[in-house]
Amino acid sequence: MKKFKTNTDSRVVISELMLPSHSNFSGKIHGGYILSLMDQIAFACASKHSEAYCVTASVDKVDFLKPVEVGELMTLKASVNHVGTTSMVVGVRVESENIQTGKVKHCNSSYFTMVAKNDKGKSIPIPGLILENETAIRRFVRSIIRKEDAQIRRNRFKESEFELEAHLEILSKYNVKVNL
Ligand SMILES: CC(C)(COP(=O)(O)OP(=O)(O)OC[C@H]1O[C@@H](n2cnc3c(N)ncnc32)[C@H](O)[C@@H]1OP(=O)(O)O)[C@@H](O)C(=O)NCCC(=O)NCCS
Repeated sequence: MKKFKTNTDSRVVISELMLPSHSNFSGKIHGGYILSLMDQIAFACASKHSEAYCVTASVDKVDFLKPVEVGELMTLKASVNHVGTTSMVVGVRVESENIQTGKVKHCNSSYFTMVAKNDKGKSIPIPGLILENETAIRRFVRSIIRKEDAQIRRNRFKESEFELEAHLEILSKYNVKVNL
């Protein structure tokens, strides 16, 4: 019988103190370091849901809304928003807290598509998702729309369909010089 799990079964939260060794030249935490932690927590969450090792298939747009400072306590929260046959969309939210003031800021959020694999590296079916509340339903539906939008973006500007002349005028409004 097919297995179904709730997203609370696989939810993961980690907190880490931001050390000077993770900072860039202006004293803020490296974006790359934050992305690496986001990938790790997405992996943990997807692996818990699928009960298998997972790989990252894609990462959605990441906007760095606020910088993370050295000495802050960064918290990452991950949950499964959507499941396909072998893939899961894991939503990751990053917040950072000033320990002295207790002020918490939302630093970024993104969506990681993770695929479950067996020992031979083959993609394998994963459990279904039980949607227990309105938030879970909203997140699932948003993922469907995001996937559809990504598909449309992928299909645009295929080399075989690109019409050069039709786009030269658009380029005249941008900070470029066409030098064919
Ligand atoms: C991404 C990858 C897993 C696709 O696996 P695959 O078995 O070859 O491809 P499939 O077409 O069968 O796709 C498997 C699933 O991944 C999804 N998928 C594949 N590529 C995707 C992409 N770029 N974005 C989002 N989802 C993707 C498919 O929609 C499918 O989902 P479903 O089963 O839920 O419908 C495979 O290309 C891969 O292993 N890439 C390298 C991953 C990697 O090295 N990551 C970084 C280190 S972990």
